[in-house]
Amino acid sequence: MNKQFVVDDNVLSQQRYSDKTIFVTGGAGFIGSNFVLEWLAKNRGRVVNLDKLTYAGNLNNLESIISDPRHLFVQGDIADSTFLRGLYLKYSPAAVINFAAESHVDRSIHGPEDFIQTNVVGTLRLLEETRAYWQGLSVSDAQDFRFLHVSTDEVYGTLDPSDPPFTETTAYAPNSPYAASKAASDHLVRAYHHTYRLPTLTTHCSNNYGPYQFPEKLLPLLIANATQGKALPIYGDGANIRDWLYVSDHCDAISVVLAHGKVGETYNIGGNAEHRNIDVVHAVCTILDELHPDSPVIPHAKLISFVKDRPGHDRRYAIDASKIRAELGWIPRVQFIEGLRQTVQWYLQHPDWVAQVTSGDYRHWVNKNYEARSKA
Ligand code: NAD
Ligand code: DAU
Repeated sequence: MNKQFVVDDNVLSQQRYSDKTIFVTGGAGFIGSNFVLEWLAKNRGRVVNLDKLTYAGNLNNLESIISDPRHLFVQGDIADSTFLRGLYLKYSPAAVINFAAESHVDRSIHGPEDFIQTNVVGTLRLLEETRAYWQGLSVSDAQDFRFLHVSTDEVYGTLDPSDPPFTETTAYAPNSPYAASKAASDHLVRAYHHTYRLPTLTTHCSNNYGPYQFPEKLLPLLIANATQGKALPIYGDGANIRDWLYVSDHCDAISVVLAHGKVGETYNIGGNAEHRNIDVVHAVCTILDELHPDSPVIPHAKLISFVKDRPGHDRRYAIDASKIRAELGWIPRVQFIEGLRQTVQWYLQHPDWVAQVTSGDYRHWVNKNYEARSKA
């Protein structure tokens, strides 16, 4: 496969679902909302978007499509079997993409129960209702049906500086309650394929960044804090490494896997952009110095503050994405520094969005997570 295949894929996946409905779970969150917006913008078909609207779900992300007849938003829980059964009966989807999850590592350290409930019990209930629906389909519809589970690279654990990047055969070694709950959900997906032959696909992606990310995660937190003259908290020595991928590249990869991935397979997705946290923070500060010279504190790097480390903090993640490149032709398109600049610009242009998500409960979270982290 070559790069040309990716370009053609827009046409191929458009044809595959253009007269069909897909279910997207967690489509009011960061990646899910980016995915739904892109799916509709590329006219790929109808979407039923089911989301519980936890603190991380935000209907404002979907403002531009809320009255679009190709998009139906339904509030509900993936752990609610009766709710799911009703949706399957009513809308007969051709595919399900499961983004719904509790997704923040620090929150999982403060309280793992919600992670087990949604990521494990929720995924199980979703699989079970999907299986019942799929087993009632005609032979050809059942053959075409797909259940795509969106997982993470964190299930593979941590890497030393000289280790090769994670491949699809790297052994699971989850280190946080979040990663453990995602690993458990992956195993359930695998088991439903192996035991019942449910046509599943699983993706493992590295750190995403871009518009609509909730400011508990590093990049939007830095931008929100820096523009208000607040400290930029760096856990530990700041030398932890993440492999960054712009969110639209992740969304494209999911569409490619959905349309062309081999049933039962797993695909790693990464940006080939490994950076130390401290370097990322300096890059954000430099962009902000240029784009937002009116901040209370300039240069923004003056706000950098090393704080107590995250317990069990994984040192390094890195993805080997050669399988999805070789088999499906996907490659990331957005260079890290270009994506970072677009992201900073988006947050600066959407102060109302930031103000809305950082009001109320967000403040409780910030106090809980950062007050006990005195300066390192
Ligand atoms: P997010 O926290 O921004 O969004 C999660 C969404 O799921 C929210 O809209 C929330 O309301 C919804 N949700 C939570 N519990 C639910 C439930 N029980 N039923 C229905 N909806 C529920 O997360 P995100 O960063 O967009 O991540 C989406 C998926 O991608 C997750 O599965 C995550 O593990 C995975 N992932 C994320 C990244 C990343 O860097 N953000 C990287 C790799 C994989
Ligand atoms: O690798 C994929 C994963 O990436 C996803 O599965 C998760 O859902 C997603 O949250 C993300 O996990 P991380 O823990 O890597 O992301 P986070 O933005 O929380 O942190 C990124 C790095 O920055 C990490 O090394 C911790 C550090 N950090 C984070 C915060 C919030 C800080 O130094 N200070 C902070 O205040």
